[in-house]
Amino acid sequence: MTPPAGRYPEEPSPACGGGLGGGGSADPHPGPPPRAGEGEALVTLRGVGKRFASGTEALSGIDLSIGTGEFVSLLGPSGCGKSTLLRLVAGLAEPSGGRVEWMAGARPRIGFVFQDATLMPWASALDNVRLPLRLAALPRAEQQALAAAALADVGLAGFERAYPRELSGGMRMRVSLARALVTRPELLLMDEPFAALDELTRNRLNDDLLALWSARGGATTVVFVTHSVFESVYLSSRILVMSARPGRIAEELAIAAPAPRPPGFRTSAGYAAMCRAASEALERAMAGPARQALDRAMADRS
Ligand SMILES: Nc1ncnc2c1ncn2[C@@H]1O[C@H](COP(=O)(O)OP(=O)(O)OP(=O)(O)O)[C@@H](O)[C@H]1O
Ligand SMILES: [Mg+2]
Repeated sequence: MTPPAGRYPEEPSPACGGGLGGGGSADPHPGPPPRAGEGEALVTLRGVGKRFASGTEALSGIDLSIGTGEFVSLLGPSGCGKSTLLRLVAGLAEPSGGRVEWMAGARPRIGFVFQDATLMPWASALDNVRLPLRLAALPRAEQQALAAAALADVGLAGFERAYPRELSGGMRMRVSLARALVTRPELLLMDEPFAALDELTRNRLNDDLLALWSARGGATTVVFVTHSVFESVYLSSRILVMSARPGRIAEELAIAAPAPRPPGFRTSAGYAAMCRAASEALERAMAGPARQALDRAMADRS
């Protein structure tokens, strides 16, 4: 989780206009910013690349824009740079090319949820959740109250004193989610948080996450990394499909469905059709430029 900077628990600051200008003659990536899904762009990446010291080029020419209040999934094959992209957005790593631009000119309050719950085993659920509040030096009584409320929000009221070893995998992930949400992040970054869970638990957490996001009424933007076509369609308002390494945004799909999802959505024909479209987009992205050129040539000949 990104260490807080002592700015919460106040509500997110109002949207600031016009912070994404740039684009002067010295701009190596001129042109209109890539489209944000909804609302004003919270963050825009222009021509972002990442080459590690080892020589591995993880990302190349990433152009994307994420609107305030969106729920965006990054869907792509293993090793295409999804985690690297999330780390660049979080400020945990620096791009080796291009720029990351923020609506207000500065990175907002960010919560980060990793694939593993990464809880302190010696601390209770409550103490794990209040860690970022302690780091922000909030008064202890306030830490306790906010952490307890965050645990209740994720369905863990009554488990404040439980240690991680006393919780199931799904419950540990709920604690991790509560720890990220307790700071009321404006941007929630999630890196395959439910991948290790069984299907039923994962489905429940997907529903609860969507309910929590909806309840924030657009105050929290989510970027969610997943390998799962089904999960990406179920959760997102927009899916960015990434190509194999070096990762690029190959395609994007808008998912037009109410959030939280209505009962029966998972078994609906509409959901199945959207999953098929996302799956085909992923196949195209994984096939790479050579295969796409061949497909086009074959189509032209027929
Ligand atoms: N710190 C690092 N140093 C060198 N190479 C790295 C580093 N971190 C990641 N890489 C490489 O960058 C590429 C992208 O890695 P990344 O972890 O972002 O992929 P990913 O899409 O998240 O994969 P997965 O879905 O398996 O989690 C990989 O080839 C990886 O080996
Ligand atoms: Mg990863």
